[in-house]
Amino acid sequence: MKSKNIFITGGNRGIGRGLVELLSADHNVVFSVRDKQKGEETIQNIGGVQASYVVMDVNENESINIAVKKMKNQMDSIDILFNNAGILIPEYDVPAIETSEDSILETFGINTLGPLRVIKSIVKLMPKGSRIINISSGMGQLDQMEGGSLAYRLSKTALNALTKILSVELSEDEIKVNTICPGWVQTDMGGSNATLTVKESTEKIVKFALMDKFPNGRFLRHGEVLPW
Ligand SMILES: NC(=O)c1ccc[n+]([C@@H]2O[C@H](COP(=O)([O-])OP(=O)(O)OC[C@H]3O[C@@H](n4cnc5c(N)ncnc54)[C@H](OP(=O)(O)O)[C@@H]3O)[C@@H](O)[C@H]2O)c1
Repeated sequence: MKSKNIFITGGNRGIGRGLVELLSADHNVVFSVRDKQKGEETIQNIGGVQASYVVMDVNENESINIAVKKMKNQMDSIDILFNNAGILIPEYDVPAIETSEDSILETFGINTLGPLRVIKSIVKLMPKGSRIINISSGMGQLDQMEGGSLAYRLSKTALNALTKILSVELSEDEIKVNTICPGWVQTDMGGSNATLTVKESTEKIVKFALMDKFPNGRFLRHGEVLPW
């Protein structure tokens, strides 16, 4: 398989870090961190592979623009973009009517506007045939919607809508856009009771990301299409 140029947001821990480790064995990978020190530590710990980092806060346009300029020193085009960076403020038992606007706006800024900002800044570097994978969540699935975690749920449902819209708009440029749920994964966000290790989840994500018949405008988990 031809080596791809891949950009992953939030690559210093959790699912993003797992993607960096797996993909950098065979591909050129640039990942983002908020803290330079964490970028250095990640590079040292994964050792001897094709990966580098840029400092980027997906909640700040200026930070994204500076990072993308730096990234162009490593690679002049991007074949696969993973919008992975995200937050979950633990509000599992907080009813919608008691959720603060601050919580909703903060989560929306990172989980929904973050991917849009990154795509706006990077899409001009994406050639025909390139792929965008937004990491969403089953908690944003309308079909299975439950109570609690209003801010997180809204942010991921909106990310799914953004995915669908972009999959239509970017089809003219032959760029495919999908949104995926990684499963329940043992990370700082998912907690230690989660059903999947980072390795188990990211192996499935990588298989999907590199598959020949890549879909467009779908919501998937482990390569299986989910209802919205
Ligand atoms: N774990 C699960 O079970 C699960 C399930 C469904 C969906 N997901 C989704 O999968 C993605 C990754 O989750 P995870 O479990 O790996 O989470 P995690 O371990 O908490 O890691 C989150 C990553 O996002 C970065 N990040 C947070 N805010 C950012 C910002 N403003 N700008 C740039 N980077 C930022 C963090 O950087 P810092 O280290 O600097 O904070 C970190 O690298 C998220 O989108 C999440 O919603 C996870």
